[in-house]
Amino acid sequence: MHENFAWWRFGILYQIYPRSFQDSNGDGVGDLRGVIERLPYLRELGVDALWLSPIFPSPMEDFGYDIADYTGIDPVFGSLNDFDALVVAAHDLGLKIVLDLVPNHTSDRHPWFIESRSSRANAKRDWYIWRDPKGEGGPPNNWLSEFGGSTWEFDADTGQYYYHAFLRSQPDLNWRNHDVRRAMHDVMRFWLRRGVDGFRVDVMWHLIKDDLLRDNPPNPDFISGQQPYQQLIPLYSADRPEVHEIVAEMRRVIDEFDDRVLIGEIYLPLDKLVTYYGRDLAGAHLPFNFALISTPWNARTIAKLVGDYEAALPAGAWPNWVLGNHDRQRIASRVGGDQARIAAMLLLTLRGTPTLYYGDEIGMPQVEIRPDQVRDPWEKNVPGLGVGRDGCRTPMQWDSTLYAGFSTAAPWLPLDRNFGADNVAIERHDTGSMLSLYRALIRLRSERPELALGTYKLVSIAEALLVFEREHQDQRSLVALNFGCVSAEFDAAGLHGQILLSTFMDRQGEAIPKRLALRASEGLVVGLLG
Ligand code: NOJ
Repeated sequence: MHENFAWWRFGILYQIYPRSFQDSNGDGVGDLRGVIERLPYLRELGVDALWLSPIFPSPMEDFGYDIADYTGIDPVFGSLNDFDALVVAAHDLGLKIVLDLVPNHTSDRHPWFIESRSSRANAKRDWYIWRDPKGEGGPPNNWLSEFGGSTWEFDADTGQYYYHAFLRSQPDLNWRNHDVRRAMHDVMRFWLRRGVDGFRVDVMWHLIKDDLLRDNPPNPDFISGQQPYQQLIPLYSADRPEVHEIVAEMRRVIDEFDDRVLIGEIYLPLDKLVTYYGRDLAGAHLPFNFALISTPWNARTIAKLVGDYEAALPAGAWPNWVLGNHDRQRIASRVGGDQARIAAMLLLTLRGTPTLYYGDEIGMPQVEIRPDQVRDPWEKNVPGLGVGRDGCRTPMQWDSTLYAGFSTAAPWLPLDRNFGADNVAIERHDTGSMLSLYRALIRLRSERPELALGTYKLVSIAEALLVFEREHQDQRSLVALNFGCVSAEFDAAGLHGQILLSTFMDRQGEAIPKRLALRASEGLVVGLLG
């Protein structure tokens, strides 16, 4: 059915946070063999590609986003043999594998940085961003780290500062240096040759900084209580024009291989986000669209957001949507149970590639983390502001046994206290569960090409009811989503068809009447005839 479309257009991505998916060796931390064990579940769920957060050797100060070796596997996750076995097993089941590429920074324990900091004359000195103290001393400019404090760390041995956009143990590479580019392209080729189907590029919009290192301007909208990073507008430290050349170069490496994908992690307003498709669409295939993660949850705002995004897309660019990830609050806790079902229906019926975050398909909540359980370095650096990310990284809830079927040992992060009731084993047999809804939505999406590939048209928006239509080669579906807590009606006079799916899983097959009634927080997909 989809032979003319690249897999990353009609497919569904599923993000695995490997520490928390499945532990196979009883150390309380997930691993690659664990992922292999759970591939049949993912096949059954119906997703098409797995994106694994970093699995490379790392001191784990930022849980793998601080890489000490780009071409190995951290022992906590297994070995290169395990990785190769995962690629083969996934491909055998028709699942693609996308890796996390973290090219903006390394760990301070990466041999490149160890060399670079060893002396000003070292050949790798320029692989990182080193600067003299400013004037009387002090950091070269006013830039702030996303994780709190200055971005500059003084190295007493060589008398210069190095730049780090995140932790001080995550020095930024200097992408103005062409040896750095070549080295990273070789890293990409290493994994592409091993069979990976693409990369999700970490903080793509951070890759290159102002050559003059100009001070960032103050943010006039800063409100006290926000995270300190927001005091300045990152005008000179991120989203610089030169970044597009770097992305285009990465894309050329991707294009040396057949059918691979380049995805970018980019937190920017829509008009800037879409520039990452690149001139002539020679940039990222999918600049991640995180707008749903932070938008106020109501019909009008979401309709406007979808319209704005559709309008902003360059001709020929393929859209995408994300509801959650390992850095943001879980959708089930953000919008609540029944609205999380609306969110699922929205994600899987909008035009564009959807990315699911592991556990959202069973409605996993943001788990409360006691202060003594905090592992996230960001929360440790700027406590009390609610930036902690541990709550969305807790172990996958597979069943009701002691450690939820995730491990035979106490997991590295606590389990949700309701895991005994909310887990895969129970939800699989409950025809009304969140898992059953996700499976039904994914199945519907694969059976009805208009839901995956069709055009998007806003039909109406009244109070809390959003209605849109998808159409592909004369096949049409109507999606009606009630964001409100009271029932709503839609004037369906002149339309013929039947309900394909309700978020409550109980109205399949109903013919649509002239006035289509939706219960509070109900979503419907309706197959239209004629
Ligand atoms: C973005 C990643 O998603 C996040 O988890 C990480 O902490 C930062 N990049 C730094 O690598």
